[in-house]
Amino acid sequence: MTGPTDNLRINGERLWDSLMEMAKVGPGIAGGNNRQTLTDSDREGRDLFKSWCEAAGMMLGVDKMGTMFATRPGTDPDALPVYVGSHLDTQPTGGKYDGVLGVLSGLEIIRSMNDLGIRTKHPIVVTNWTNEEGARFAPAMLASGVFAGAIPLEYAYDRKDPDGKSFGDELKRIGWLGDEEVGARKMHAYFEYHIEQGPILEAEAKQIGVVTHCQGLWWLEVTLTGREAHTGSTPMNLRVNAGLAMARILEMVQTVAMDSQPGAVGGVGQMFFTPNSRNVLPGKVVFSIDIRTPDLAKLNGMRARIEAEAAEIAEALGVGCAIEPVGHFDPVTFDPTLVERVRSAAERLGYSHMNIISGAGHDACWAAKVAPATMVMCPCVGGLSHNEAEEISPEWATAGADVLFHAVLETAEI
Ligand code: GLV
Ligand code: MN
Ligand code: MN
Ligand code: MN
Repeated sequence: MTGPTDNLRINGERLWDSLMEMAKVGPGIAGGNNRQTLTDSDREGRDLFKSWCEAAGMMLGVDKMGTMFATRPGTDPDALPVYVGSHLDTQPTGGKYDGVLGVLSGLEIIRSMNDLGIRTKHPIVVTNWTNEEGARFAPAMLASGVFAGAIPLEYAYDRKDPDGKSFGDELKRIGWLGDEEVGARKMHAYFEYHIEQGPILEAEAKQIGVVTHCQGLWWLEVTLTGREAHTGSTPMNLRVNAGLAMARILEMVQTVAMDSQPGAVGGVGQMFFTPNSRNVLPGKVVFSIDIRTPDLAKLNGMRARIEAEAAEIAEALGVGCAIEPVGHFDPVTFDPTLVERVRSAAERLGYSHMNIISGAGHDACWAAKVAPATMVMCPCVGGLSHNEAEEISPEWATAGADVLFHAVLETAEI
């Protein structure tokens, strides 16, 4: 079916220029970005985004989690807004596109609407969620989790980074503590455009991922308590070795994930040894476990097995073991009507597409708890993400933004 908006396209060159401009803020050490949440670089990125939103005629609201909401008014004062969002924060060694593509494509669709003189019935709100990555303050998607009522505000404020600084203090320090109650906004719909962060779309030579689901997740924090002792003079039978327990648990997590195939992953990304000295057996080891699968029963089964086997491994070595869950969401099914809208937009625009399940977590997962929500994905080179070498092509970026544009226009009603 054809319609009056079929020839509308975003300005791909302007989108790419903005991506490259934002990538100058918080440069990494290998061509990517280190713009971790609530750092001075995050503040600089926010200030730049704010200036662009204001230049595009949008009004900015900020909530008590520091999430930025830039609004382009609609023609019907009673119509709820359509939200388009993602995040500007990055991993410590992050890429230039993870999150940023979604926020700046939201901005680009507003700029294109301004150029084309398009008004919509519903307002459109471009959103930058605070602390999507969870690299500095666990869990990931912290602000959208508070927005959806899944995480208490005070718990979020108390989260500590590895230096012991709290989320609440850092939010105030960078000057982005807003006054809006978190979660007070009502959404007509929520869209998020993101790079795939995996290898499927590129391997299948598809320009667009129509995201139907997102896999669920548990983040566990394990604290092992051994006894600090000299690595040279302590006989093997007298060691209470928290490091050895960690190594065995790490291997066990791999086994649990492999036993849970197909469609399950598990791994360890963060480890802290105390005192972290070459010739001291560690007295304390704290490390993270991240397990994910789209199957809720399997997800919870993996967690139960990991907790039981970790306790056994630690006990056999005389090591203390405490496990705290620090992040969780159930597998998500995105709104079928919006999913179909994304698919038909890709179809009309002549972009190749396929259904895909998101392997990474996104703010859309929490938005889906409070509104109809869905996502659009584009490929990334070699499926590589959470790596400074993350790369996409300008053509891929443009294709997904065009699809986002059309799906949003249809939802916000011209
Ligand atoms: C967030 O980036 C996640 O999927 O862990
Ligand atoms: Mn992301
Ligand atoms: Mn990420
Ligand atoms: Mn993510």
